[in-house]
Amino acid sequence: MSKTLLIIKPDATERNLIGHIINRLERSRFTVADIRMVTLTEEQARKFYAVHEGKPFLNDLVAFMTSGPVVPMLLEKDNAVEDLRTLIGATDPTKAACGTIRFEIAKDIEKNSVHASDSDENAATEIAFFFGPDAI
Ligand code: CMP
Repeated sequence: MSKTLLIIKPDATERNLIGHIINRLERSRFTVADIRMVTLTEEQARKFYAVHEGKPFLNDLVAFMTSGPVVPMLLEKDNAVEDLRTLIGATDPTKAACGTIRFEIAKDIEKNSVHASDSDENAATEIAFFFGPDAI
């Protein structure tokens, strides 16, 4: 079993899609090992997305990610990071493969409904951010 982090973003919590997304995850054989609901402060959102410092979309992204509740969850599965990236699809929903979560429900490249860790190393950092170092 390996671990990864998924966040349900404000555009999806606002549309009552939490249950739908968890259903998609569980049917794809991910186990939800921990879950929270939290409204991020600006400082927390900037820290989480520190890797995007200097990118033109960062300020809008931080405003969006603090605009409502998000649902981070710790997921377990064999090959968790890669399989979750496949399941959610490309960042830009117009480029996401048919059948992926973003193809199905994302609104645009920013309001793209879910975030998933992109490497085992980043998964460890992101899991610790929301669930503490003991969760890794
Ligand atoms: P996420 O997978 O959470 O990683 C960074 C986020 O920035 C991304 O999803 C989008 O919500 C947002 N974003 C907005 N514009 C862009 C862009 N041009 N390229 C990448 N990410 C973007």
